Amino acid sequence: MKKSIFSLLAVLISLLAFSISMPPDLSEGQKSELKTSPQDSSNEAFDKMMQVLMHQRCVNCHPAGDVPIKGEDSHVTRSLGISGGEKGHGLKSINCQTCHTDENNDFSGVPGAPHWALAPKSMAWEGKTRVEIATQMMDPKLNGGRSAKEIMEHLTEHELVLWAWDPGVDAEGTPRETPPVSKDEYIAAVKEWINKGAIIPNK
Ligand code: HEC
Ligand code: HEC
Repeated sequence: MKKSIFSLLAVLISLLAFSISMPPDLSEGQKSELKTSPQDSSNEAFDKMMQVLMHQRCVNCHPAGDVPIKGEDSHVTRSLGISGGEKGHGLKSINCQTCHTDENNDFSGVPGAPHWALAPKSMAWEGKTRVEIATQMMDPKLNGGRSAKEIMEHLTEHELVLWAWDPGVDAEGTPRETPPVSKDEYIAAVKEWINKGAIIPNK
């Protein structure tokens, strides 16, 4: 009697061990999801990064014309005659620093961060596709002579870039929208995409 209980236990234990060592049953769809090639993960990182670059917090300072565009609808304000001037810092008489300081002013609703200025025309993003933006951004003839490593540093460390996650409130006191991807996720995506060769997908 004792012996048969032991052998029953042995059978049960081996069944248990077998079921633990078996991989979980996956459907075909789930299996193919697990097989991501380096190219797939680079494309995924690109998608994440570009969701940020296409956001109005970046595009408003990388406009097609030489006037900053504002707000969630990226409207142009011409009333003050503000323009980027030769170098994007404004004109002699009225420049960006007349109103914009090194930090957000949440009383007046004027945003601010160090080096506040408009990106030069060669770095205009407004109205362009993500492939066009990425292509010009990686081209040293258009990006201010930067290497891929320098672009990575600019994208992950520059004060005007990081301002997008701390954009303050507008003139009505409404908080400005932040990009749709968190800062940490975005930084990880930029690094992954550039470290994997900065491959620009074809659309
Ligand atoms: C306040 C305005 C401002 C904001 C906001 C801003 N930028 Fe810029 N950006 C600039 C200026 C000015 C330059 C040119 C600086 C230089 O060449 O030294 C620039 C240059 C760049 C460059 C260099 C290469 C190139 O071709 O564009 C990158 C990359 C860039 N910005 C990314 C971003 C991203 C990403 C965001 C949003 C998360 C952003 N910027 C938000 C003003 C801004
Ligand atoms: C006379 C004051 C004044 C001057 C000069 C000025 N701005 Fe502004 N700017 C403002 C105010 C006020 C706002 C906030 C408007 C709002 O969001 O309600 C603003 C908002 C912006 C925004 C929008 C930020 C966003 O993402 O919504 C950008 C970009 C900008 N300014 C860039 C510039 C640049 C670049 C210059 C210099 C070429 C400049 N501004 C000169 C007053 C000024």
